[in-house]
Amino acid sequence: MTVQTASRFAGIATARVESLLRQERAAYEAARPKSRAMAGESGRHWWNGVPLHWMLDWGTPFPLFVARAEGVTLTDVDGHRYTDFCLGDTGAMFGHSPPAVAEAIRRQAGEGLTAMLPSDDAAEAGRLLAEIFALPFWQMTATASDANRSVLRWARGITGRPKVLVFQGCYHGQVDETSADMGGNGQTVPRPSLVGQILDLESSTVVVEFNDLPALESALAKQDVAVVLAEPALTNCSMVLPAPGFHTALRDLTRRHGTLLAIDETHSVSTALGGYSRAHGLEPDFFVVGKAVAGGLPCGVYGFTAEVAERMAALNRRRPPGHSGMGTTLSGNPLALSALRANLSQVMTHANYQHMLGLAEHLAAQLAFAIQRHGLPWHVVHLGARAEFVFAPKPLSNGSEAMALPHGALEQAVHLFLLNRGLLVTPFHNMLLVSPATTAADVARLVEGFEACLAALAD
Ligand SMILES: Cc1ncc(COP(=O)(O)O)c(C=O)c1O
Repeated sequence: MTVQTASRFAGIATARVESLLRQERAAYEAARPKSRAMAGESGRHWWNGVPLHWMLDWGTPFPLFVARAEGVTLTDVDGHRYTDFCLGDTGAMFGHSPPAVAEAIRRQAGEGLTAMLPSDDAAEAGRLLAEIFALPFWQMTATASDANRSVLRWARGITGRPKVLVFQGCYHGQVDETSADMGGNGQTVPRPSLVGQILDLESSTVVVEFNDLPALESALAKQDVAVVLAEPALTNCSMVLPAPGFHTALRDLTRRHGTLLAIDETHSVSTALGGYSRAHGLEPDFFVVGKAVAGGLPCGVYGFTAEVAERMAALNRRRPPGHSGMGTTLSGNPLALSALRANLSQVMTHANYQHMLGLAEHLAAQLAFAIQRHGLPWHVVHLGARAEFVFAPKPLSNGSEAMALPHGALEQAVHLFLLNRGLLVTPFHNMLLVSPATTAADVARLVEGFEACLAALAD
């Protein structure tokens, strides 16, 4: 794995990282008096100055306050412009305020925001979901987290089994049952960082390593797993791609043991039109996508097969009337439906994916070339419109390997160096997204900034 000694990490001198970080922090602070003032003002009532605590994870001395974001150009309150490769951690994967989505929202804004009734966009949005993601039936939620929670509930309900199986290092949103790690001796333990955790994860969750088919098979053989909830590739702990044959075996094993398969494509929808599932023929029973699916407006959806729909209907006939434990009042509201319809019909198009995939491939190759030129023990991993540089010499094969990689000073120094030069990289990992609005010149600027950063980090 990555070489780490007291004085060097991932081929870079620790002292060099620290001095670069000091220099970049000072530059950030000096150039952003308005963001600093807003952070102070916001801190009077927003806890730590931000409406969501994740906004502190950028590693900047104080948060960057946004004045405007359009396409891939983000402008801060101090007037600095950035080319955005973070894109709201995938929420704006198709660019900020795609014109067709913005227009649909503008139109709908004066015609009703929420009614607890389907709007006139519903039928067409449903048809588009079925056409693009190749599953016949759908439900809408406010977020991908909500969609995953609903899928787990339905899966337990229709199979009568208690457990979900997830892969080590996974992230499926704010979903208690999936916030679990492998403990020793096949046990399941809560993530140590969780706040207020009380659920007995041992009774709800099984965790195995991604790409570990023998462990998967022995877990499913116990026949108490209702559903495997999986991303096609792990994307939330440095990307881990599936080994050849992994998904075929996963589908075979789940079918053999009466376990449902739910594929969460909230991030991996970057792979291709219709997501990784359609591009690679995964045949999930449930399919989840959120974040970018309505162009960045809060929205999640889950789809399912006709067979699952029949089992859901049978369950509904059996259960007494009352709360189902799923749904939130604003889910499926007319505003979200209008954005969903516009995004599916005019933004998630074949032509836009062609552009994104071609440019991302070029980006990944250029980053790998820069790493090689500087002789660093890093590599680049790439999934459709998304590329990521990883501080390890070889592709990772599971979540434990990925989780063992530190996300400390080196990551922060690279991100801050790039940010100070007008290039935004995702804070939690080194993810770079190419949107329909990203140009070849944007990619060239990023590669140039990355090269300059590597030069600055050299001894
Ligand atoms: C794979 C995956 N599923 C679900 C979610 C949850 O999305 P949200 O935060 O919009 O609920 C995320 C968030 O990053 C994710 O990466």
